[in-house]
This record gives sequence, C-alpha cells and structure tokens, in this order.
Amino acid sequence: MPVPKAELHLHIEGTLEPELAFALAERNGVELPYRDTEELRAAYRFGDLQSFLDLYYRLMAVLRTAEDFTELADAYLARAAAQGVRHAEIFFDPQAHLARGVSMGTVVEGLAAALDRGEERHGVSTRLIMCFLRDESAESALRTLEEAKPYLHRITGVGLDSAEVGNPPAKFREVYEAAAALGLRRVAHAGEEGPAEYVREALDVLGVERVDHGLRSMEDPELVERLVRERVPLTLCPLSNVRLRAVDTLADHPLPAMLAAGLMVTVNSDDPAYFGGYAGDNFDAVRAELGLGAEQLRLLARNSFEASFLEDDEERRAR
Ligand code: ADE
Ligand code: ZN
Repeated sequence: MPVPKAELHLHIEGTLEPELAFALAERNGVELPYRDTEELRAAYRFGDLQSFLDLYYRLMAVLRTAEDFTELADAYLARAAAQGVRHAEIFFDPQAHLARGVSMGTVVEGLAAALDRGEERHGVSTRLIMCFLRDESAESALRTLEEAKPYLHRITGVGLDSAEVGNPPAKFREVYEAAAALGLRRVAHAGEEGPAEYVREALDVLGVERVDHGLRSMEDPELVERLVRERVPLTLCPLSNVRLRAVDTLADHPLPAMLAAGLMVTVNSDDPAYFGGYAGDNFDAVRAELGLGAEQLRLLARNSFEASFLEDDEERRAR
C-alpha cells in the first residue's frame, strides 16, 4: 500500500494524458498537430519552463465543455487515489480557458462535478485553487477574480503560475489584497526558475501561506532560516524539476539538503501527464534516487497533511 499523502501542487490541466487529449480532440472536432499519442509523447522533451508551457497551453484547446473538465478531474482522482493520495489541492488556470471562449462557469462547474464525487468514488477530498497567469497583466488577474465571484463557494484560494522570470510577485499585490479581503487562502509559485528574492516577495508582498516550488530559496541562507523559523511549506515537485531542467538529474535535487536544513517541504507532481509521474511516482523516485529512508518519507507525508488547507478534524480523517 502506498503511503497516504496529500497532493498540494497539481495543475489539473497538467493531468491531461495523451489518450484523453486525442479522445477529447475527436469529440470536439479539434485538430491536434500530432498524428497519434506516440508522436505527442515524443514532443515531451522540454528545455525549460517556457518550452513546456507552450505545449501545455496548446493542448488545452481540446478542453471545451463542462463534461471535458469533469472527465479530466475524475481521471486524475482515480490515478491519484491509486498512488495513496487522500487529499488534493488542485490548481486551475481560468485565464487560459477564458481566452479560448470557455467560461469560468464551464470550468469550475465541470471540475466541481468530479470533485464533489471524489470522496465517495475515490476516497480523495479536494480543494480548488484558482491561479493567475503571471505573464498576463495585473488587470487581467483582477478581471479574472471578478469573474470568479459567483463561484467563490467552490474556490479555497488563489495561486500564481506560468512564466516566472520577469514577472515578480509584486506585480500582483493588488489582486492578492483583493483575494485576501474575500477570505481566499493565498499561495504562489516562486523560486522555480526565478530567484530567491521572488520567494521573499511572495511572502512579504502577497502574504502567501505556502510557496510552490521555492527551490531556489536554498541560494539564500537568510531566507532559508526564515522559512524554517516560520515553518513556511514549500511544495516541491522533483520529477518536474528534472524535466524542466531546474536540476540536472534527480540525484542533484536539493530535497535532502532542504530536509536537513529543517525546511517544511512536501513532494508533489505538478503536471504529472507531462513530467513522468503522479504523486506516488515522485515519492518512489526520491526514495530510489536520493536514498530517502522510511522515516523521511513518513515526514514528507505528514508534512503534506499539515501544510494542507484541511481543518484539523478533516486532516485526521484523511491521514
Ligand atoms: N503551470 C503549469 N505548471 C507550471 C509550473 N511548473 N510552473 C509554472 N507554471 C505552471
Ligand atoms: Zn506548478
């Protein structure tokens, strides 16, 4: 039995497996620039974050109806459950869908239809986190928050993703203030490709409770000390870091050093259809390649529940 865990860094659009992409393309009459799933999989060779994002946004063209989003989320929950995930806090990228004429309601209600059945069908509780695309404008993020207002009962928090370098957290100060005023929890990607300074800015300017990735925090000892002192969770994604060349090989991943420094880290899958593995695969990979022992794996699993947005009683039930 895989160790029970929570997944805190998962982009639902990044769970679109080639087989489902082709099935939805056919159903919706969308032409994909690949002959078959094999040719598509062969395109999953990324030099950096941007080269991945280009394909990630292109493939989203197949997601058109609420049912498409329901199927996508249900398929993710089935795979996650099989790997020991008991709770998932799921990112979605509404701007990427709004830009294609797919409404906020289609996306949120489509996802919610699967998530509402998640516990009963798969034994997985869920939360939704709406991400702003940091390479879009701050005004666009504010408009997106406005569009989400009818659906806030479905949305636990906001996040920040997409192309990091050149798009610092401070660009989104106003929308994060507005989100906080609406009672939304706050997280942000920082220190994936961007500098440690972006991690500090996400904490100080955006008031985030968790940092997604935070890998490059290790370049700044003072920041590391603060993250340890304040027990700020960092949602690491080891297989993603290898595929997007944030590290050369998994053996070079700073996870062991981060644990040794006393950082509150968790292990997650990011975009599992693209990066070669779901949450359990990431756990297996760090055990095999980084020599983590049973006690460290248990600590990572415990951290994942503690860093989640579950209430204490829900957390006890999920563990
Ligand atoms: N969107 C989907 N996956 C992402 C990642 N790893 N970093 C930034 N934005 C993303
Ligand atoms: Zn991510």
